[in-house]
Amino acid sequence: MKKTFFYLFSVVAMTACNNTSETENLTESDQPITTLRKSCPSEDIRAELLKSDAAARERYANIESAVNAFQGKVLADGSVDIPVVVNVLYKTSAENISDAKIAEQIAILNADFAGTNADASKIPTEFSGIKAGDTKVRFHLVKTVRKATTKTKWGTNDAMKKASSGGIDATTPSSYFNLWVVGNMGGILGYATFPESAGLWNDGVVIAAPYFGKTGATAPYNLGRTATHEVGHYLNLRHIWGDAACGNDLVADTPTQPSANYGKPTYPLYKTCSGTSRSVMFMNYMDYVDDAAMFMFSAGQKTRTQAVLTSTGARSGLRVY
Ligand code: ARG
Ligand code: ZN
Ligand code: CA
Repeated sequence: MKKTFFYLFSVVAMTACNNTSETENLTESDQPITTLRKSCPSEDIRAELLKSDAAARERYANIESAVNAFQGKVLADGSVDIPVVVNVLYKTSAENISDAKIAEQIAILNADFAGTNADASKIPTEFSGIKAGDTKVRFHLVKTVRKATTKTKWGTNDAMKKASSGGIDATTPSSYFNLWVVGNMGGILGYATFPESAGLWNDGVVIAAPYFGKTGATAPYNLGRTATHEVGHYLNLRHIWGDAACGNDLVADTPTQPSANYGKPTYPLYKTCSGTSRSVMFMNYMDYVDDAAMFMFSAGQKTRTQAVLTSTGARSGLRVY
């Protein structure tokens, strides 16, 4: 392993593509690109090496087969680093959210899914043993697409996801997580598609601009948690109350609760289902509480998200880039 590293390092050092002294003081526009390309002899040097050195040929073959076996952005610790495309539809300049705000939202997703959010310290001891901690899901921005619109209000009919209805077409939704930001959806903060929609034209998450990111966002949904919640759905998580009276979210470690919680409940909050009173996990991202009141996924929820991201899962396409 070490040997391979030193080998690669020395080859890179020896064959670095220099613009030689002739081209040094020329700008790119002065120098035709073909000439610049010709000045990189790395492959020629490699060909000589491989011709004369059987051991080098073997190392080369091993490297290439490892590259082919590698599942894209699955990190060394098993984390899946999801590539994100942000599609911005704006009428006002405030709706044309800045690159800085997009970076801020991605950082919030990364912290919440890693369990490194500052308010994770508020997880009650009762639930600390079943918190997800690091879900091993990460996000990185690959592209931002912006489009001006005259539309002042959007609905949940996916119009924002199609150029033919005034929206922006998704970028390869089987391999990229598409996130649309629109100016206004009335009382709706955001919505998501579940994994059965993986790769379809409408696959992804929509968020209304006032609830995207943190800086300047609208209270009490101003900590970027609408995205955390919607991405939870995108990765197969249900609402913690199971969308029915004392419903089932298909997660064993989230206590059954009668309905959604709102606002900023005080812990412990006891609720009764089928005659049993339980302390409910209202601080879960998949409840409806204020952004400041939600700060955890459970271990069972982590397992569900991981299941759709394995190499045979419905969202395995996100592992590629
Ligand atoms: N889809 C939910 C809604 O539109 C999102 C709730 C998110 N909750 C939050 N605290 N940000 O109401
Ligand atoms: Zn929801
Ligand atoms: Ca449950």
